[in-house]
Amino acid sequence: MKKGWVKKVGIIIIILIVMQFIGINKQVPTIEPAMDFMAVETPQAHIQKLIKNTCYDCHSYETQYPSYSNIAPISWVIGNHIKEGRKYLNFSIWDSYSDEIKRDILYKSYKQTGARLMPPYTYVMMHQEAKIPNNELKKLYTWFKERSTYYDKQLTK
Ligand code: HEC
Repeated sequence: MKKGWVKKVGIIIIILIVMQFIGINKQVPTIEPAMDFMAVETPQAHIQKLIKNTCYDCHSYETQYPSYSNIAPISWVIGNHIKEGRKYLNFSIWDSYSDEIKRDILYKSYKQTGARLMPPYTYVMMHQEAKIPNNELKKLYTWFKERSTYYDKQLTK
């Protein structure tokens, strides 16, 4: 009885160790500064800071990995978030998007940040600096909305 318990724990430990060898791919292509969201949209400094602090870890090639991102299976969850996040929206390649896509992403960002759906709350739990105060939140989503309207006007010209 007692021995069986030890064996199970042993197996779990071995599995956890083996899992550590399956890392996540942190490699990114060369970043082209001219393609970056900040270079194209030139938001005011405080908006820039908000977006960099709260979105860039998942939606750009400039991810800052926390130390626990090296521990499987947490690393896999984080890696997957980043992969999914970049697939939909990558601020590092912003200028490769058409005006229509830019407009749609900006509009969705307005909606998502306004409803506090982005950044995801699990991320905010782990990153205090990503917690957007209410007064800042309004400035951020209003800015996203304005930029979306700008592209909308360009498209309907
Ligand atoms: C922890 C990683 C993470 C952070 C930080 C993050 N996102 Fe996301 N975001 C995702 C993932 C994953 C998806 C795709 C799946 C989903 O919609 O939940 C996504 C989807 C989106 C979408 C598309 C939603 C839709 O329904 O089509 C928008 C817009 C977006 N994010 C904007 C932002 C903005 C703006 C910020 C910063 C204020 C941000 N995200 C921060 C991970 C993140």
